[in-house]
Parts: sequence; C-alpha cells; structure tokens
Amino acid sequence: MLFLQSVLFLFCLNRVCAVFQTVYCTISDSCACDFRPSIRDLEWDLYKNVYGQHLAQEIVAEEVASFLQNKSPDRPLVLSFHGSSGTGKTLVSSMLGNHLYGSAMSSPYVHQFVPTLHFPSPHMVKQYREELKNWVQGNLTECARSVFIFDEMEKMPSGLIDVLEPFLGPSHIVFRTNYRKAIYIFISTTGEEVINKLAMESRQAGRDREEIRLADLQEAIAQTIYNNNTSGFFQSSIIQKDLITRFVPFLPLSRRHVERCVRSQLCQRGSCGRSDVVEAVGGDMVYTPVQGQYFSTTGCKAVPAKINFFL
Ligand SMILES: Nc1ncnc2c1ncn2[C@@H]1O[C@H](COP(=O)(O)OP(=O)(O)O)[C@@H](O)[C@H]1O
Ligand SMILES: [Mg+2]
Repeated sequence: MLFLQSVLFLFCLNRVCAVFQTVYCTISDSCACDFRPSIRDLEWDLYKNVYGQHLAQEIVAEEVASFLQNKSPDRPLVLSFHGSSGTGKTLVSSMLGNHLYGSAMSSPYVHQFVPTLHFPSPHMVKQYREELKNWVQGNLTECARSVFIFDEMEKMPSGLIDVLEPFLGPSHIVFRTNYRKAIYIFISTTGEEVINKLAMESRQAGRDREEIRLADLQEAIAQTIYNNNTSGFFQSSIIQKDLITRFVPFLPLSRRHVERCVRSQLCQRGSCGRSDVVEAVGGDMVYTPVQGQYFSTTGCKAVPAKINFFL
C-alpha cells in the first residue's frame, strides 16, 4: 500500500514538475530545444578542471557568456581550438555541451563530426559538401541554438568546410531559420608549432606562462591554417572573410600540469592519497626539449594508461 502511495506521489510530482516547466519555458523562452545554459557552471568547470590553459579559459568563458547574453546576435559564435595532442581541446568542447543543454553532451542539438568517421574519402568531397550543408541547415531550422563540433580538422578533406561559409557570416537569415544563434567549434593540432614555440621562448626567458598574450597568436594561427594544406582550412574563404570569432590556443603542458591530471584521475578512482603514483607517472612522461624538459609531448593523453601501470 505504502509502495503504491509512493509511486502515485512520485507520478503526480513528475506531472506537476512537467507542467511547471512548460509554463516556465513558455514565459522565459529559454528552454527551447533543451537549451538550458549555465554560464556559471561552465566557468567553474573551466577554471577548476582545466589545467594550464589560461588563454582557453578566458576566451571560452568570455565569448560564450557575451554571445548568450545577446538575445539576437548578429552572427554565430565561431571558435577554433588549436594546440598539441592531450592539452584539453576535446575536454573543453565537451564542457560547453555539458553546460548548455539539459541532457549535456547527449543532447540531440550537439552535433559532433569526426572526419575519419564522417568524411573518410577525399574524392567524395562534392557529396559530403551537400550532405553537410543540408545537415546544418536542417538542424538549425529545428533548433537555432545548436552546437556543431568539428574535431580533428587536420583530417578534414580540403574544400569541404567552405560549404559552411554562408552560415558563419552576419547576413544569413532566412524565413523561419535563424542561423545566427548557433555555436561552431573547430578543433585541430595545426598551429601547434607557433603556439609551442611561443610557450618555449617565454619559458626560456623565465617569464610566467600567464604572461603569454593572446594577441601574439591570433594572426599567426590564422596564417598557419590558411597556408597549411592539411589544416582543413587551406586557402579557405572562411579565413579570408574573417569568419572565425576567436582562435583559441592550447599551450603545451608541463610536468606539474600532468601531475594534476594524474591526481584528479586518481581521486576519481578513490585513490587520492597515492602521491607515489603521481610522482611515477609524472616522471615517466616524455618531455621536450631534451635540454630543459619543459613540456610533455603527449600532454595528459597517456595518463590513464600509465596510472593503470603504476597503481
Ligand atoms: N589542460 C588539461 N586540464 C585537465 N585535463 C586535461 C587537460 N588536457 C588534457 N586533459 C586530460 O587528458 C584527456 C585527453 O585530453 P583531450 O581534451 O582529449 O586532448 P586533445 O587536446 O588532444 O583533444 C582528457 O580527457 C583530460 O582528462
Ligand atoms: Mg581531441
């Protein structure tokens, strides 16, 4: 009997919640298509759980906040992440999805593309272009607040991404579909040389990592991806027309950052106190340059495997 009453109570509670939510969404116009952004949580996650990336933290937090505060932006938000493997690019893109939608990264309005999976054959670019355009167009008609994440851009067949050019600019607004509320994230390792060189010079000069300024990197990254025929943006009109809102550099990680990755993953496994493992994994990574041993060549990527080994 008690069981039945509990089930009935929970059922009613659910119904009441659903009605309240519908009323709230109608009034506030903010939960269309599962869109429930929490800028505070995003900032908190970025600053607490991403190590050694002051530029990425600042830019992503700032740009997303100001973009979402604007109820009718005049162009979509387009961010391009660059940096070596294992420095947190995919991690930060997931944080975005996690804090923008009710059902986080599994929301049907977060679209992730991996070229080797979705666009594997360079000779099919013509067909892919048509498919990608229709996909983006169709999904934005369904939900203007959609996120499109293109990972591993360096494996994207040349000439494909340009099909998005009309969507990324300021002028594209068509009956029933607002193209200006979308967020696009491009991710690639292209540009890692310029980023790592600057980080290295700064370190050699004895300066703080936090002194590396964004202005020093924006133009250099734009140039690099435009001139590199395996960047996904080779001679792209998207770069020519300045359609990327911000380039987001991810700096190479040093041993102390790697050790923070180890500590955090150990804690998640309930072994917070194993400083011996932190020390062992930190010492087992490969660092460059040989002289100085400043930066981990794989960032935090190999951390779980090494923890398994030393734990
Ligand atoms: N800067 C960072 N701060 C915290 N964890 C990181 C950082 N960089 C990488 N990691 C960890 O390493 C894993 C691989 O990072 P990922 O974001 O996939 O790297 P990539 O830059 O190659 O996309 C992540 O799941 C995360 O646990
Ligand atoms: Mg990645």
